[in-house]
Amino acid sequence: MKDTVKVGIIGFGTIGTGAASILLRNRDILRERIGFDIDLKRIADKDITRDRGIKVPDGLLTTDADEILNDPEIDIVVELIGGINPAKDFILRAIRNGKHVVTANKALLATEGNDIFAEASRSGSEVGFEASVAGGIPIIKVLREGLVANRVLNIYGIINGTSNYILTRMTEEGTEFPVALKEAQKLGYAEADPTFDIEGIDSVHKLTILASLAYNIPLSFKSVYSEGITKVTPLDIGFASELGYKIKLLAIAKAVDGEVELRVHPTMLPKDYLISKVDGVFNAIFVEGDAVGATLYYGRGAGALPTGSAIVSDIVDIARSMRFNAAGRVPVIRTGPSAMKIRKMDDVDSMYYFRFSALDKPGVLSKISGILGENNISIASVIQKGRRVVGAVPLVVLTHTAREADVAKALKAIDELPIVTDKTLFIRVEGKEG
Ligand code: HSE
Repeated sequence: MKDTVKVGIIGFGTIGTGAASILLRNRDILRERIGFDIDLKRIADKDITRDRGIKVPDGLLTTDADEILNDPEIDIVVELIGGINPAKDFILRAIRNGKHVVTANKALLATEGNDIFAEASRSGSEVGFEASVAGGIPIIKVLREGLVANRVLNIYGIINGTSNYILTRMTEEGTEFPVALKEAQKLGYAEADPTFDIEGIDSVHKLTILASLAYNIPLSFKSVYSEGITKVTPLDIGFASELGYKIKLLAIAKAVDGEVELRVHPTMLPKDYLISKVDGVFNAIFVEGDAVGATLYYGRGAGALPTGSAIVSDIVDIARSMRFNAAGRVPVIRTGPSAMKIRKMDDVDSMYYFRFSALDKPGVLSKISGILGENNISIASVIQKGRRVVGAVPLVVLTHTAREADVAKALKAIDELPIVTDKTLFIRVEGKEG
């Protein structure tokens, strides 16, 4: 039986520094807890001169990833460079060299993970990816192990801290989106190129991974519908609030009639839901199982130490499995076909918030409601106040459950009316039907 497990980290950025610092400073406590030693043997990065604020033992750093990938002593390779290439190549080489892998690379797993998991299953390697979704929240373990007894009915996730921070600022201070984005960038919560976060793509990566575990389906990145937060305005946040809702960028997975819906978009959620109270950079994931009922997981979805905590938990899990020759004990991602289909977005049912920009004239409401009725869309409530926005008045309508394809058809017809001055803004609404 091995008494030491050796680890190599490739990528000494923010997360690599977090993981390394936990492994170094908590080595004793880990040894006490698990009964053997986890030895951080090597860290590779292109830049090994920059001060990261942690002291690493002499001789640990290298600029050559091959010194980790080809070292027969190293048992676990931790990939923390991000991006698709060369990360994918490093992971596949590590697996082919008989090593286990830990990664935080959600973009890589969501888009290329089926190849990686297939290779890992052929080679008997473990791939740990707790850090790929929601940073320090152990949601992967929850879905793989804690809730394994359940049929997952639905998942609602606030899994992008950047967008949640921006929406929180817009909600609390009435800030316009571009101003809130700049603020997030200044504080280091948003990248210089924030596209993945604000367009919902980062949430799609994470939802792809969660859905694969929850519904035992292959990673299906291309089938997830996505809309970002760039069109959300303080005006809509204000109307949503009057109607009793908050706007969140939500990642949704739902089992419906033998199919699964997978979508990421701004969503109006009843203010009194616990998840609606998750603000700032925090993440939360609501999971409802047929046996357990409603559960909620909350914490920091990013940052060196929270993400490092998830990485080290994967290292420990793998080390424990290795010690008892039980690698592969918990099956991970399904790579073969599955009977579960992903529902087409056109077939999704939801409630909707519409903000029409219409001239303030008699008959406008009846024209709009007529088109909604013709398309099987029933109105639940209407707000019109004299808030003139350059000549037009916002007319806000909340609907009962309607079908996405019917909504697209109705809005196209409404936006072509001469009395309608601007494209209709719509936001999907979750919660109990009023
Ligand atoms: N940009 C991501 C977020 C980082 O804001 O959640 C963690 O994946």
